[in-house]
Amino acid sequence: MENKELVLKAFEAMRSAYAPYSDYKVGAALLTESGRVFTGCNIENAAYSPSVCAERTAIFKAVSEGETKFLKIAVCGGKDGEPDDYFYPCGVCRQVMAEFCGADFVIVTAKTSDDFRESTLGEMLPSAFTPEKIGN
Ligand code: THU
Repeated sequence: MENKELVLKAFEAMRSAYAPYSDYKVGAALLTESGRVFTGCNIENAAYSPSVCAERTAIFKAVSEGETKFLKIAVCGGKDGEPDDYFYPCGVCRQVMAEFCGADFVIVTAKTSDDFRESTLGEMLPSAFTPEKIGN
């Protein structure tokens, strides 16, 4: 699947963001090796700490449906759902990606549906702590 198509799905997912506290809306679209796409949005909570990011929503949806091999993820986000820059995943989401993906996993950071960049997990989380480190 082309990056553009995945980015469009991330923008669509961003519309479902539940972000009444930050008003910062994020969308993600994750492509599995089997060709399925799982989307996610951020979901906030009045108690704050139970909030979850869009990327983890997408990854956990996929894992809960038996998919653990991923090719790439597209992400976008911005205040009131209006991105003003390329969107780079937070550190916690990068760590969750490292649980399932290698350094070559592609992260498509989008500013608009026509303006996006490609990075790898290896670039975004060098020297990652991975399952192999604890013998898995
Ligand atoms: N957020 C994400 O969804 N993904 C990230 O990678 C960083 C932050 C969300 C969490 C929170 O709902 C809002 O953006 C503001 O931090």
